Amino acid sequence: EAYFAAEGDFKGKKVLVTAGPTYERIDPVRFIGNFSSGKMGYAIAEEFASRGAEVTLVSGPVSLSVKSPAIRLVKVESARQMLQACEEAFPQSDISVMCAAVADYAPADVADRKIKRERDEVPVINLVKNPDIAKTLGSEKRYGQILVGFALETDHEFENAVGKMQAKNLDMIVLNSLRDSGAGFGTDTNKVTVMTANGGRTEFGLKSKQAVAADVVDSIAGLLQKQTV
Ligand code: CTP
Ligand code: CA
Repeated sequence: EAYFAAEGDFKGKKVLVTAGPTYERIDPVRFIGNFSSGKMGYAIAEEFASRGAEVTLVSGPVSLSVKSPAIRLVKVESARQMLQACEEAFPQSDISVMCAAVADYAPADVADRKIKRERDEVPVINLVKNPDIAKTLGSEKRYGQILVGFALETDHEFENAVGKMQAKNLDMIVLNSLRDSGAGFGTDTNKVTVMTANGGRTEFGLKSKQAVAADVVDSIAGLLQKQTV
């Protein structure tokens, strides 16, 4: 059923957003995960929707809900499932924003029964690399599509973020600064620097994730404008 988007600077645009952590199963009751709350990705999805876009939000396990009817929510658990959902939506997407905190590794095999506590032996969990979703989409990107990533860094943050932008063929990367308290996982605020593939760098102050979402979407609107000039 078609949803007729409201007026806004993203009217008629299709947007793909990933959000939240991924859970990588160890056995039927345990997983490897991370502390991502999904708040940043959900805020970006809502911001795009409020500005007229048709949004597909591919979300790992979080305790958030979607408010706008212009957001189609696709719930996934693992990185592999997230990649599959993204591959489906990406070809039709004008703009894709990778906010998810994708687990870099997954257990090599999932035990089909609960791993029991043993007397002496400590279990060993062998890991395999997960697919890099942003990098995969970056390699499939067509002319005119915009791909945006996030980066979480603790040191050499600008160099590392630029390196990630290039390695994944992104048009823009949003660097999460962990230097300032009140920024990052689990909090309601964030402090970001937006860097673009053509060398632009804008540092924003500490603000609510809603306000950061507006800044990020404004920056993407700026990229779009440059493309069409
Ligand atoms: N990303 C992804 N798939 C992965 C890992 C990361 O799509 N398997 C995306 C994230 O959503 C983010 C960007 O890539 O947009 C950077 O994620 P990050 O974890 O900071 O970078 P990595 O490339 O995984 O490098 P590292 O964790 O070693 O810093
Ligand atoms: Ca990572």
